[in-house]
Amino acid sequence: MEYSKVIAIDGPSGSGKSTIAKKLARSLNLLYIDTGAMFRAIAYQVNEEGIELNWSMGLGDFISSMDMQYGLSDECLISINGHNLTDKIREHHVSKLASIISQIPEIRSYLLDYQRNLAKNDVCVMEGRDIGTVVFPNAFCKFFVTASVEVRSKRRLEQLVESGDENVTLSQVMKDVEKRDKSDMSRDVAPLKQASDAKLVDTSSMNIESVLEELKLGALNKAQEVGITIQ
Ligand code: DC
Repeated sequence: MEYSKVIAIDGPSGSGKSTIAKKLARSLNLLYIDTGAMFRAIAYQVNEEGIELNWSMGLGDFISSMDMQYGLSDECLISINGHNLTDKIREHHVSKLASIISQIPEIRSYLLDYQRNLAKNDVCVMEGRDIGTVVFPNAFCKFFVTASVEVRSKRRLEQLVESGDENVTLSQVMKDVEKRDKSDMSRDVAPLKQASDAKLVDTSSMNIESVLEELKLGALNKAQEVGITIQ
């Protein structure tokens, strides 16, 4: 089997996968690709420009002429048409919009090509919902990172409070998390699910350091097994 040089990290929101994926990439000196940021950026910009969520009513034109840049720098993780959206995409309202945007097949298809293209040269850490199942089913290393709904909601609430969103309550966040899980897992195109060859990592009662250690060891072992050089 020919493997892609991708460490695929999938899982639901709030599982800690973004923090872990970023740390893993940094500690192995690899490119970090956050695919959720792409869905979020499109959702944000489409909403800003008042574009209808209908492919033939303007959305298609917007996507085909859009200039999306990923990973220009830490300060500019993602931009669309020259607008740096790195901080804006973390706002609470964008999560809901991104979940809706992520169910549009044409958007998924556009981002599928975009993501495959970004990862075509170097070994990288790519995180999302369908990386190990759809985008890179032949990734040499796959993890499915998860945690209980309660733990994930508490983590999400902390992030929102930190970013200045102080009016949200835990029960509100739990409801949002459950709703988003349901729609991410039940959508027709590329639903969130664990790839059969992905290693399950439940972070509910683990600290970041031990999760990082587990993933790092797993990735290095896999790389050695299949003959990919990552350090
Ligand atoms: O991981 P996140 O919360 O930043 O993702 C934002 C939304 O995009 C979320 O609803 C799931 C969706 N998404 C997806 O459908 N496929 C991906 N590969 C990444 C994110």
